[in-house]
Amino acid sequence: MAFWNKRMPWGFLLLLAGAVGQTVNYPRPVCAVETSTVTLPCTFTPLRSFIQSGREVLLEIVRVRWCKNHLICQGNTPSVYDSNSETNDPRYQYLGDKKGNCTLQIRDLRPEDSATFRFRMEVNHPEGQFTGQSGVTVTVVDETEMRIISSSGESVMREGQTVTLHCTANCTFHQLEVTWFRDDHALPASGPALQLGPLTAGDSGNYTCGLKNNLKNRSLTYTLHVEAGEEGIKLDILTVAHLALIAVHTALVTTVACIVIRRTRVCRTGTGQQQTDVKIQLSGQRTGVSDSAQE
Ligand SMILES: *[C@@H]1O[C@H](CO)[C@@H](O)[C@H](O)[C@H]1NC(C)=O
Ligand SMILES: *[C@@H]1O[C@H](CO)[C@@H](O)[C@H](O)[C@H]1NC(C)=O
Repeated sequence: MAFWNKRMPWGFLLLLAGAVGQTVNYPRPVCAVETSTVTLPCTFTPLRSFIQSGREVLLEIVRVRWCKNHLICQGNTPSVYDSNSETNDPRYQYLGDKKGNCTLQIRDLRPEDSATFRFRMEVNHPEGQFTGQSGVTVTVVDETEMRIISSSGESVMREGQTVTLHCTANCTFHQLEVTWFRDDHALPASGPALQLGPLTAGDSGNYTCGLKNNLKNRSLTYTLHVEAGEEGIKLDILTVAHLALIAVHTALVTTVACIVIRRTRVCRTGTGQQQTDVKIQLSGQRTGVSDSAQE
């Protein structure tokens, strides 16, 4: 009996600590547009062991579940995902595991997905069952006004500049899959941000974005006008200067090459017009040098 009195509080404390240690971390409330996809990132800490009759009993997770609008999610409660079931709705994909990741992805959102989702872990002993009470709240909206916001704030841009267009909606949602259009033609880009640049006149046009799976829902039009500007002119001046430098460089290389060629007597015996020109040029340069040296 003395043995039990000493042992019990310790075991009880450990059990309590274990129970307290069980957690489920949900993301903040999510708002999403019908037909889109949301991923609910989630982590959990299971009870790994507890003390029974003075012995440590290791626990193993045997079942994980996600339920909709149910506080405990136990027994025969309908679940949207159940690791023991082979008839889970494929719209609900469990991306987690049985160790600590309880991430759930919901595809092709429907109005009935406006709910609070809770995760439950079940271990091979009644002590380890646990449902994260707070849950994650998903709000599914039917239509949402979508807009395009430009990173520059200007609708008139100059050639050579860069700009990012963001497809946004009143409802801030995860992983928006969008399709972009310029003058009603689909662009290859997907994703909520469209990067443009260096801009050319061809980037001008009326831009809209829409949800990939629900193209009826299009954003308001954003008109981008790209005009030739200072950037373009600066670029031209630079190009001209560059070309001039290359010309000078080429002339110098030719001169040096001919000095070498003359030494090897190939230049003198040559009959080409170019070589004659270079000789004249060279002798002219020599004169110039000696003249200035004399002064
Ligand atoms: C959980 O799993 C998802 C999907 O596999 C992954 O993207 C995420 O990074 C994982 N989370 C953690 C905390 O490991
Ligand atoms: C863009 O929209 C404006 C006003 O809606 C219209 O006047 C213009 O012709 C459109 N541009 C193109 C290229 O469709």
